[in-house]
Amino acid sequence: MISQQTINIVKSTAPSLKKHGQQITTRMYEIMFRNHPEIKEQFDMSAQADGSQPTRLATAVYGYATQIDNLPALKSMVEKIAHRHVQTHVLPEQYPIVGESLLQAMKDVLGQAATEEVMSAWTEAYQALAEVFINREHDIYVDDLDKLSVQK
Ligand code: HEM
Repeated sequence: MISQQTINIVKSTAPSLKKHGQQITTRMYEIMFRNHPEIKEQFDMSAQADGSQPTRLATAVYGYATQIDNLPALKSMVEKIAHRHVQTHVLPEQYPIVGESLLQAMKDVLGQAATEEVMSAWTEAYQALAEVFINREHDIYVDDLDKLSVQK
């Protein structure tokens, strides 16, 4: 359960995430690909170059900031992303890599607005969102395996 205080803080960051979203996610991929170059193999790098993947991530992060206390509203977004993650073989152990890169990017871009309070709320919020994806993706991986064994 995410605390009410975290919900309030995350929601209060939504306007600046809307304003600086693209800058944050562009920076996030920069940090992630520099620290973990092997992860590039999973990405369509043309969607990085033309900015479309950073835009998609920024939209998702903003959507989460506004609906953190109403997750059912994000169901179709979560479904689409989770299926894409399974297609590109995203694994649970990769979530901390994205998390630390995203949090660092928020710090870099938001500067003084990224107070300790804001950063700790987003650390908790990211963890909760990562769990939503990890659980959903686990189920999709299991379903895919079941389909394979039926075909045999
Ligand atoms: C809470 C964390 C995450 C969020 C909010 C997120 C968000 C997204 C979004 C919005 C997309 C685009 C989906 C689409 O419309 O096609 C996407 C795709 C993708 N994500 Fe994530 N993601 C997260 C974690 C991760 C992690 C841990 C990895 C591991 C490397 C990852 C790798 C990818 C890849 C490879 C794609 C496909 C991109 C492409 O086509 O180039 N994501 N993600």
